[in-house]
Amino acid sequence: MLLVLSCSLWQVSQAAPVVNEGSITDACVLKAWTLLQNITHALTQRNLFRGIDCTKQSLELNVKTNTESVCAPTKSTCFGAAESKFNQESCLTNIGEDLLHYYKFLATQPDPNSILGPTVLLSLRELMENCFSWTWPTDVATEPASAHPSSYNERLSLCKVLKGFHLRTITINRVMGYMNSGDHTE
Ligand SMILES: *[C@@H]1O[C@H](CO)[C@@H](O)[C@H](O)[C@H]1NC(C)=O
Repeated sequence: MLLVLSCSLWQVSQAAPVVNEGSITDACVLKAWTLLQNITHALTQRNLFRGIDCTKQSLELNVKTNTESVCAPTKSTCFGAAESKFNQESCLTNIGEDLLHYYKFLATQPDPNSILGPTVLLSLRELMENCFSWTWPTDVATEPASAHPSSYNERLSLCKVLKGFHLRTITINRVMGYMNSGDHTE
């Protein structure tokens, strides 16, 4: 039933994510989950991180958004009064900005073995276009550009950013599941 409310029906808007009254569709929850799977898989690809033990590196989060705090579920006091009301609009805006931030970064990484392009970048783009209805910014490359081999520093930075993206995508999955359940409107 819910699948009938396809993401693609969402209207195309300006340079901001669509804020839809009501719930995130099942299809969007699935797309977010696919993205998480693809990032998890990419992190195991030794080819991407040659000369680096990525598991031992620290992660780098996008500090330009406040997704964690803005998207925290409504908290209730023990008397049942809402302490902080969940704000779907600013939560979705923060998530949309996260997705664009990571897209811009990943699209400019060397990807000589086409590890990121057909997986992470593709599922990221699907999520952005279908569930956040971005009007694709003109300064964003739509194809992974460079096929040249990555330098050590590029691989190191890719590892850290991808680990941060992984953590953020776990949050995004949790939040989208929450919005999908409809609990946030109660
Ligand atoms: C991306 O993740 C989905 C869901 O796990 C999987 O079906 C698909 O094969 C993955 N894509 C690639 C190319 O790894």
